Amino acid sequence: MLFTFNSFAGVFEGGDAAKGASLFKANCAACHKITDEVLAAPGLKDIDVRWKGKDALIVKWIQNPQAAAASGDPYIKGIVDKYVGTFGWMANQAVTEAEIKDILAFVKAGDTGGGGDPNAPKGPQCLTLDEINKAESANEEGDGTIWFIIIGAILAIIGVTAANISRSLKNAINEREGLAPLVERTYWAEAKSWMWSNKKFVSVIGLFLFCYFTVVGYRALMDIGVYDGYTPDQPILFSHAVHNCQNEIDCQYCHSGASKSRHAGIPSANVCMNCHKGVKKGTMTGEKEIAKIYDAIGFDPATGTYKENYQQKPIEWVKVNNMPDHVNFNHSTHVSIAKIDCKNCHGPQNMYTVGHVPTAEEINGQDDVVGLVKLERRPFTMGWCLECHNKKEVDLNSNGYYQEMHERYKSSEVGLRTLRDIMEDGEATVRELGGWECGKCHY
Ligand code: HEC
Ligand code: HEC
Ligand code: HEC
Ligand code: HEC
Ligand code: HEC
Ligand code: HEC
Repeated sequence: MLFTFNSFAGVFEGGDAAKGASLFKANCAACHKITDEVLAAPGLKDIDVRWKGKDALIVKWIQNPQAAAASGDPYIKGIVDKYVGTFGWMANQAVTEAEIKDILAFVKAGDTGGGGDPNAPKGPQCLTLDEINKAESANEEGDGTIWFIIIGAILAIIGVTAANISRSLKNAINEREGLAPLVERTYWAEAKSWMWSNKKFVSVIGLFLFCYFTVVGYRALMDIGVYDGYTPDQPILFSHAVHNCQNEIDCQYCHSGASKSRHAGIPSANVCMNCHKGVKKGTMTGEKEIAKIYDAIGFDPATGTYKENYQQKPIEWVKVNNMPDHVNFNHSTHVSIAKIDCKNCHGPQNMYTVGHVPTAEEINGQDDVVGLVKLERRPFTMGWCLECHNKKEVDLNSNGYYQEMHERYKSSEVGLRTLRDIMEDGEATVRELGGWECGKCHY
């Protein structure tokens, strides 16, 4: 009894705010802010005041809201009446009591933007809505090719007109001097005779054009199947900058497959509805884009209910990153085992609107990513995978599999030699462990 009393007395006191910061981000930030603002749930500002004297109950609430509500506490009845109709029940949170203590300490300290610690380095500032809009319209601008075509066409018209004028002048002179008019010739015959009389000039131009088109052609061929910079339009103008940067929703809240399976996956409309049952309007696009989610799933925002017998329509997201069928890529290997940050491969996706394949500069320019492996090859090409496997060190103490291999190697002469080869420079790269073997990446 003494134990329970001790641990329950003061969950609002003595927690570790720095630990609480990362716990809050991972578990609660998707729905709760530390302000008065209602995101997908009430803001948690002054939570210690609102739940004063209910230390045991708040722990129970966080771990199992419906069980806590069954206690009949009037404050809880109040929040249930106010929010459950709009947002549904808060899910049971898999956090221990000690962790809740840390989270509440962090909430009490107030989010300083540096993860609870005012001296912690701040990440890059989120883009403002203006900047997001600007980036959006920049994507729509074409390249310079159209101007080349227009200038080329103007030059051709000038050339033809000039040739016509010069011909008419010559005819006029011939007529005055009583000579026969020039024979009527096609433009092509005319051009041929001009080229014949300006051989040197024409060959220099010809050589130049030949080199130019060889380079352009080579580049075009090397671009086949390479997509850095690709940003297709999506059926809903979903903004990562709004959700992930401004509202700090964790990547894996939506792409939950990334740490446990091959595919990161795209969230279904039900996941959107966790929040958009309540959030009916955005500052950038108003109700227009969010209404498309309702249309897909059959939700009536006016009454806050789902329509009955509604034929749901899938949202047809356009695939952005796409490996050919002969490539074996697995997210969980990279995210859970190698612990590589999403941003090392997907760039500052939290600053973009819709999905975008980053360029090498965009990836390498992120100073806030801890342990970023900077790569020169163009992202999502084979050379890029190989470059990282060649550079990135594997932490041999990270899991039992490597430790066991280590031990087995030590027990034989050949094994020892292999181990010496690998560890000669003091580290094992992915390549040394087989990350360059064709069969690992190709079916
Ligand atoms: C999926 C969304 C979601 C997540 C994640 C979530 N909550 Fe909640 N929370 C809610 C909703 C919604 C309510 C309002 C009551 C309801 O509808 O169940 C709520 C209510 C609360 C309340 C009561 C608020 C008040 O004004 O008194 C507390 C405290 C709380 N949550 C803490 C947490 C903590 C701590 C975490 C992280 C460990 C967390 N929640 C994670 C959705 C969420
Ligand atoms: C080592 C590089 C790498 C890392 C790290 C990585 N990804 Fe990916 N991601 C890829 C590649 C390659 C593809 C294309 C896969 C395909 O087409 O089969 C991809 C595809 C995706 C897709 C498209 C849907 C799918 O599953 O194919 C999403 C969403 C995604 N990644 C999200 C994430 C998130 C979120 C993280 C971090 C938790 C992450 N990725 C970490 C390389 C990476
Ligand atoms: C965890 C909560 C959460 C989830 C899940 C979520 N959203 Fe949002 N979304 C928000 C919030 C909060 C806003 C309001 C931002 C603002 O003030 O503009 C928003 C805004 C939007 C907007 C309007 C943006 C603007 O500024 O005009 C669109 C469109 C949108 N969300 C689409 C989606 C889609 C599609 C999904 C599912 C793939 C989704 N959201 C999932 C919380 C969420
Ligand atoms: C609120 C939900 C949500 C969050 C949070 C979120 N995403 Fe997404 N993401 C989506 C949706 C919906 C799409 C599909 C539409 C598109 O391409 O924009 C998408 C698309 C993507 C794609 C392109 C998928 C493809 O087709 O290849 C990548 C890569 C990606 N997200 C990475 C991330 C990363 C990295 C984070 C965290 C920094 C993140 N996402 C956070 C909802 C989310
Ligand atoms: C940013 C660095 C990075 C990039 C980019 C990257 N990988 Fe990896 N990859 C790793 C690391 C680190 C491991 C080792 C994980 C472990 O076992 O500890 C790994 C492991 C693998 C493995 C398992 C190898 C084995 O020995 O079993 C495969 C397969 C793989 N990667 C495929 C790919 C493909 C395909 C791409 C390109 C689309 C890619 N990787 C891009 C870092 C990277
Ligand atoms: C680390 C992973 C990885 C390894 C190891 C690897 N490849 Fe690849 N390979 C890829 C990826 C990813 C692509 C797709 C590139 C693209 O779509 O641009 C690819 C594409 C190819 C292609 C198609 C041509 C192309 O450019 O799309 C061939 C052929 C190929 N690889 C052969 C090999 C051979 C042979 C080996 C062994 C010497 C090998 N690969 C080892 C990842 C790998």
